[in-house]
Amino acid sequence: MQPLILSVLLAAFWTICTGSADWCYQSQFTCDHPCNTPDKWNHANSDCAKEFQSPINIVTRKTLKDERLTPIQFKNYQQIFRSTIKNNGHSVQVGVPHHSTISGGNLPDVYKAVQFHLHWGSHGGPGSEHTLDGEQYPMELHIVHMKEKYTDLKKALSDPQGIAVLGFFYEKSNSENRKYEPIINNLPKIKATNSNTSLPSFSLEQLIPPQQNLTNYYRYKGSLTTPGCTEAVIWTVFENPIPLSDNQLRKFSEVEFHNGKPMVGNFRPVQPLNGRLVFRSGSAAILASSSLLVTTIVTALGLSHLN
Ligand SMILES: *[C@@H]1O[C@H](CO)[C@@H](O)[C@H](O)[C@H]1NC(C)=O
Ligand SMILES: *[C@@H]1O[C@H](CO)[C@@H](O)[C@H](O)[C@H]1NC(C)=O
Ligand SMILES: [Zn+2]
Repeated sequence: MQPLILSVLLAAFWTICTGSADWCYQSQFTCDHPCNTPDKWNHANSDCAKEFQSPINIVTRKTLKDERLTPIQFKNYQQIFRSTIKNNGHSVQVGVPHHSTISGGNLPDVYKAVQFHLHWGSHGGPGSEHTLDGEQYPMELHIVHMKEKYTDLKKALSDPQGIAVLGFFYEKSNSENRKYEPIINNLPKIKATNSNTSLPSFSLEQLIPPQQNLTNYYRYKGSLTTPGCTEAVIWTVFENPIPLSDNQLRKFSEVEFHNGKPMVGNFRPVQPLNGRLVFRSGSAAILASSSLLVTTIVTALGLSHLN
């Protein structure tokens, strides 16, 4: 074949296969359904190529202990409400009445809950967005909050500290987590993109670990993890994971992307820190066993100011 024809053909193929379209996750890409995968999200929104993006890998031995990171104050998290769960084509999302708030833990304001959604892997495989010392958990919950004074997310996103997201990891457990039945039992009804269904009454409190298990967390400044990737998020990532059985985790893979393919791998890869610091609450453990050992020895020698 003539080199010229070959390169024209290649160029055509390249264009077809990368042609600008909606953003998508890596798991969605096929040549038949080209879309902007995470490395091309800047085509969907230029903010996705900015410096302080989320998620990140949290290297626990490089985190800085911050005494101001006291326990988060949860208000009205126990309040029971009715809502709908929706397949928005990228995740399953639940709107939350704006009565539940968080404050304290060095957050600069009171933030009210707006919605929550999840990111997961394939059939219970790795799928969290944040990673801890390189470990990717099977799923991650994001409870999205905005400053109390705002009435819609758009306004909050134009404030560099307008949004506070709480991130929780999941881990596989041997028993079912009954508190998740309202959500998981309704997933089969929202297989199709843009479908929604009403949920039985539940509270935000029942989705997360008990408060005494929430004292260990990580804090850094970042972005939304989907386009527009707006850098307006104060991130709080909790160390204590939420237990779900393998069967419960697998149920999320029965939800479908818009093309009818299983919704799996709907996480963004970790982004560079670019010099950002990650802080840990007073008691968050250093996970790496070697540095734990060093810390123990240093402390035992009375040299703890070196920490
Ligand atoms: C749920 O779906 C119905 C019917 O398609 C639609 O009218 C309604 O606006 C949707 N509700 C939400 C919260 O998306
Ligand atoms: C709370 O933390 C304790 C100690 O780490 C652990 O044994 C327990 O399973 C945790 N509870 C939940 C619901 O995560
Ligand atoms: Zn998210």
